[in-house]
Amino acid sequence: MSTRSFPESFLWGTATAAYQIEGAVQEDGRGPSIWDTFSHTPGKTFAGQTGDIACDHYHRWPEDIELLRQLGAPAYRFSIAWPRIFPEGRGEVNERGLDFYDRLVDALLEAGIVPFVTLYHWDLPQALQDQGGWAERATVEAFVTYAETVVRRLGDRVRYWITHNEPWVVAYLGHYLGEHAPGIRDLATAVRVSHHLLVSHGLATRAIRALSPHAQVGIALNLSPVVPASDSDSDRAAAQAYDGILNRWFLDPLFGRGYPRDTRQLLARFFEPPESDCDTIAEPLDFLGVNYYTPAFVTAAPEGSPQGIGLRLLSPEELRARGYELTDMGWAIVPDGLEQLLVRLQREYRPPAIVITENGAAFPDEPVDGRVQDDQRIAYLAAHVAAVHRALEAGVPVGGYFVWSLLDNFEWAHGYSKRFGIVYVDYTTLARVPKASFDWYRTVIANRALPDG
Ligand code: FCB
Repeated sequence: MSTRSFPESFLWGTATAAYQIEGAVQEDGRGPSIWDTFSHTPGKTFAGQTGDIACDHYHRWPEDIELLRQLGAPAYRFSIAWPRIFPEGRGEVNERGLDFYDRLVDALLEAGIVPFVTLYHWDLPQALQDQGGWAERATVEAFVTYAETVVRRLGDRVRYWITHNEPWVVAYLGHYLGEHAPGIRDLATAVRVSHHLLVSHGLATRAIRALSPHAQVGIALNLSPVVPASDSDSDRAAAQAYDGILNRWFLDPLFGRGYPRDTRQLLARFFEPPESDCDTIAEPLDFLGVNYYTPAFVTAAPEGSPQGIGLRLLSPEELRARGYELTDMGWAIVPDGLEQLLVRLQREYRPPAIVITENGAAFPDEPVDGRVQDDQRIAYLAAHVAAVHRALEAGVPVGGYFVWSLLDNFEWAHGYSKRFGIVYVDYTTLARVPKASFDWYRTVIANRALPDG
């Protein structure tokens, strides 16, 4: 018997997102999204790669569900492509888009798998971007209508809903650093966008509950412990500031405290969110989704640095020099960071439940004699699942853990150059090859425990 066992009800799973796996971008009436536009703009993604074909999941989903069945995980997280449902972002509904997800949900349920549905994983309909996108309040209303339309169709069978995936990334990478769609570089826009995302979360949460009383609604935040690069006062102040921007800006209003005062002051010259929206944002969550990959290592830096206000993140080279092992993304591998984060969330926010909605790592996997022996990924996952177990023992109400990702897929600006899957995808044949980590995860799930040692 393992000493590190998990409750029977624990929801193990894997996660994906529509634009990263589906392909079929012009099929069955789908409209263009901001990621189609962005990835087709020269210089925006690795080698100009796009999601046009991706993993061709739109056609190969029966095979992917078969993989999920073999894995034996009780849950699966995927996202719905808004431009399949509303090709123009609002207005006329495209029934064929809804039909696709309807079949997917039925097939998952038939396989005994609980669907976790993300409504917004970054693929805003281009038509809405043309009208200002998330910087415009009108997009909030369009999102709520989209959410209602999906819940009307799937809410009889889907219980778990995630409104937004990583609003910080949408706001900052999409609208300040310009590394993600729509590729805007303006801090004031980024802060405004973050506020509209949060308001739309609150309104959508209410709308989902009104239509589907048994619904469990959450939001998936990218959260990281923020580590000052040194003990100096300036680095500690920079870390405090970044914690505000990355973590507390989202957590505080979601948990009914309004925006954090220090961050509000820091960002005031860019955008001041109206306090009157804070009740809407604070619509109670059923669970908090946590996406964790690595801590943020922060140092003070002159004004105007790329990470925001007088600070910057340490580079992969600096992290390596400090002795950290890195993934293929250049992210430091720090499993304790997940435990610390979970304990902090419990202590400071008391969420009713926490689900790890993403955790995983990219490594440059290649098949050898038809086999992908991804020992580094196994080590990464084992260490992070162990961290979750320690948090559970410390009393943190963690109800599930989703590996990012089921499949190697389109890693946004990195194109297909970063492999996160527990299933290898050969992008010339689109063949799927379960990696060694797939077998490892299947065993953990079957035993509901980590192996001793
Ligand atoms: C997260 C995204 C997910 C994936 C992983 C690696 O930020 O939510 O789509 O790209 O990172």
